[in-house]
Amino acid sequence: MGVITNLTRMWLTRSVKPFLFTDEPAPQTSFKGCRNLGLYLHIPFCSSICGFCPYCKVLYQEELCSRYIDALIREIHRTGNSLGKKKTVTSLYIGGGTPALAADRMKDILDAVRQHFIITEGVGVELHPDNVTVPVLRTLKEAGVTKLSIGIQSFQKKYQTVLGRKTVDAAAMSEALAAVPFETVSMDFIFALPGQTLRDLAADVDAAFTHGANHIAIYPFIDFTFTPGKIRRMPEREKRRLLDGITAYCLKRGCIRTSVWTFAREKGAGYSSMTRETYLGFGCSAATLLRGQFKINTFSVEEYCRRMERGESATALTCRFSRRQRMVYYLFWAAYSTRVDAGEFERFFGIPLKKMYGMELKLAEWLGFIRKDKDSYIMTPKGAYYYHYYENFYTLSYIDKMWGVLRNEAFPKRLTL
Ligand SMILES: C[S@@+](CC[C@H](N)C(=O)[O-])C[C@H]1O[C@@H](n2cnc3c(N)ncnc32)[C@H](O)[C@@H]1O
Ligand code: SF4
Repeated sequence: MGVITNLTRMWLTRSVKPFLFTDEPAPQTSFKGCRNLGLYLHIPFCSSICGFCPYCKVLYQEELCSRYIDALIREIHRTGNSLGKKKTVTSLYIGGGTPALAADRMKDILDAVRQHFIITEGVGVELHPDNVTVPVLRTLKEAGVTKLSIGIQSFQKKYQTVLGRKTVDAAAMSEALAAVPFETVSMDFIFALPGQTLRDLAADVDAAFTHGANHIAIYPFIDFTFTPGKIRRMPEREKRRLLDGITAYCLKRGCIRTSVWTFAREKGAGYSSMTRETYLGFGCSAATLLRGQFKINTFSVEEYCRRMERGESATALTCRFSRRQRMVYYLFWAAYSTRVDAGEFERFFGIPLKKMYGMELKLAEWLGFIRKDKDSYIMTPKGAYYYHYYENFYTLSYIDKMWGVLRNEAFPKRLTL
């Protein structure tokens, strides 16, 4: 696994230099050239913990949650005060954990954000199906939330049992969504669960749109090494058939593909915190990606609160990219949106994409992974499959390793990936 990602990294960065993360204080945050800056806030509380979930999360405790939100607001002001003047950002995504558990503090959080940032494309929040009630939705809407992402996983009891979750009350959920409408209602599903068929998945897609979604995310099940859950992995060939089948089904239904895993039923519906050129993260485990650096906060909720109360940085690890490393990172996430815009690349890096990766683009076109459309390269369904296949390696070689370390150590000294 590591061999594949290492060779790809060496090829595309033209160097044997790995990604090196250290605990050295991050250099001064510079927003030079960050035109499409996004914001991400992490709220790590859940009512119960799922055995398959890799995210930074802890069981909800009222007192700890309240202390954490105070700390989060401190971090927002700490960064905001260093900006000088209000900064325009595209979007704000609040993920977790289950951030809707802190719905009654959402207004405080968004008020703090709005003191320093102007948000142009809306505010998204993640919910567990249990949180989809009229009072919670009203509270979120009144605070300024415009997009919801609900973790359904499956509407079918047999797969909820596999995942160790309870059945979703679809009727109650759709009633609440009809009573309090939002611009985007996205529903998350997990595919490639043992025994899952295309018919099962298509039924889930239909149910999502019937019960109030206008956007869906269909994530492949990823078996992280550090999660306690034991779910049998689906063989690759079966997974590909399922991915191709459900992609064709969504497109036939008139959906627009908004990224490798996401589909919108209508134009304008969108939910993606990942496909930003640059972003600022707040809260434990939140990452920040700027032009020349990537940094990630501690995964320890306690340490995070303590650092914020003392007025100290919560950054655990920082990586200073070489130019080629940054290009690879940029292209990986641009490809996730199924489109790489050559003009945008040149604006960001000051050099034509063709000049840096002309040979690779030709090869990808020849292999049928991409096709050219004016100034953009569009990923084909074949390309999306291989991206998905590669992403599994990337997730297990990079994310699994980094999160695995950070779960055990609040402030590790260094990490090489
Ligand atoms: C933070 S949770 C969503 C909100 C809420 N906590 C919930 O579970 O309903 C984010 C999403 O990540 C996806 N996810 C979690 N663990 C996964 C795994 N091992 N493989 C694939 N997707 C996963 C699930 O679809 C989940 O809805
Ligand atoms: S899937 Fe959602 S509810 Fe389950 S542990 Fe992860 S964040 Fe919490």
